[in-house]
Amino acid sequence: MPANPIRIAVIIGTVRPGSYTKKAANLAIQELNSLDGVTVDVIDPAELDLPFPGVESATASSNDIQERIQNATGVLMTTPEYHGSVSSALKCVIENLGFPSTLAGKPVALLGVAAGVIGAIKSLEQLRSICSHVGAMVLPGVVSVAGVQRVFDEEGRCNDEGTEKRVRGIGRALVDYIRQTS
Ligand SMILES: Cc1cc2nc3c(=O)[nH]c(=O)nc-3n(C[C@H](O)[C@H](O)[C@H](O)COP(=O)(O)O)c2cc1C
Repeated sequence: MPANPIRIAVIIGTVRPGSYTKKAANLAIQELNSLDGVTVDVIDPAELDLPFPGVESATASSNDIQERIQNATGVLMTTPEYHGSVSSALKCVIENLGFPSTLAGKPVALLGVAAGVIGAIKSLEQLRSICSHVGAMVLPGVVSVAGVQRVFDEEGRCNDEGTEKRVRGIGRALVDYIRQTS
C-alpha cells in the first residue's frame, strides 16, 4: 500500500543574498525531494513581504504562509547564527504564523549554520525553545553546521562528507518521524 503523502514546508531563515543557510537548506531539500511520497514547499522570506506583527494586521503574505504551514505535514526550519541567536528574518516569519501559531502540533526539525567553530548551538537552542513554546513537536536531533564557509563552496556544494550526511539526514529524520507517528 502506498504511504500517505507527506508535505514538508522548509522555512529559509535569512534573506541574505548568497546565504549559506540557504545552501545547507537546498541540500536538505534535494534529499527530501528524492523521497517517495514527499513534496516540498519552500517558504523564503526574501520572496515575501512580511510585516512586523502589530504594524499591520494580517497581510496577504502572512495569510499565505499560515495556510502553507497549515497544509504542511511537517516543517524544516533553518537558521543562521546571528549574534548568538536566530535571525530576525526567521523570527519575523514565526511571528507572522499567528497567535496562536499555526505551528502548534506540527513536527518540526531544526537546521542551523554558523561561521564560527561552535556552530549554531545558541540559535538552535533558542529556536527549540520558541518552537516548543508555540506548541510545535520539535525533533530531539538538530543539525548544526560549524565553519559553514569551509564546508560549502560558493556554488552550494558541500565538500565534507560527514556534514553532507547530517544535513541530508535531517529531512529524512523528519519524514521517518511523521511516518512512525501517523
Ligand atoms: C548579523 C550577523 C551576525 C552574525 N553573528 C554570528 C555569530 O554570533 N556567530 C557565528 O558563528 N557567526 C555569526 N555570523 C556569521 C554567520 O553565521 C555566517 O554568515 C553564516 O554564513 C550563516 O549566515 P548566512 O546564511 O547569512 O550565510 C553573523 C553574521 C551576520 C550577518
